[in-house]
Amino acid sequence: MAKVGIFFGSDTGKTRKVAKLIQDAFASDDVAAPVNINKASIDDLLAYDYLILGTPTLGDGALPGLDCDCQAESWAEFVPELESADLAGKKVALFGLGDQTSYGNAFVDALGELYDVVSEAGASVVGFWPNEGYEFNSSNALDGDDFVGLVIDQDNQSSLTPERVKTWVASLKSEFAL
Ligand SMILES: Cc1cc2nc3c(=O)[nH]c(=O)nc-3n(C[C@H](O)[C@H](O)[C@H](O)COP(=O)(O)O)c2cc1C
Repeated sequence: MAKVGIFFGSDTGKTRKVAKLIQDAFASDDVAAPVNINKASIDDLLAYDYLILGTPTLGDGALPGLDCDCQAESWAEFVPELESADLAGKKVALFGLGDQTSYGNAFVDALGELYDVVSEAGASVVGFWPNEGYEFNSSNALDGDDFVGLVIDQDNQSSLTPERVKTWVASLKSEFAL
């Protein structure tokens, strides 16, 4: 079985696409194909020691499914299961998609929400990412000067995505002992 599981939520498909780019950048059979969180159980996640979890921010900074009219049921429905899970001993890297131009006051806020949930469940979160190169007013996904995971803006900076993914994945390889 692969060592690293990738799970994502997505409304219009951008987060799914980035999840696939991340898997491809590892170029390793140790990284499983991305799975939509609305098709996953908590046991599917707990089967891995290393996890990569991705979410867009939709509707006032909420995790998709919670406060928005999203097509996809998504992370919000899964959060109660995560909150009661024991993620101690798991290394988790997070990535978030957002739109810094239209939603600069709540940029990738759902990434911050996901971080809070997995941290409280005991996970060790790796893969923080510098906030340079983005223009926004406010974000709940910041820890000091760093985002708590990779931040991708497919709406305004899609040309930067391949390089961002490549750099982030390179930093995760040693964290995930790959
Ligand atoms: C209704 C709606 C609300 C949004 N709210 C936010 C937001 O609060 N913060 C943010 O950074 N991006 C926000 N976005 C932008 C999305 O996060 C972004 O387009 C993302 O790439 C969508 O990913 P998906 O295609 O996987 O659903 C919003 C988009 C929509 C359509």
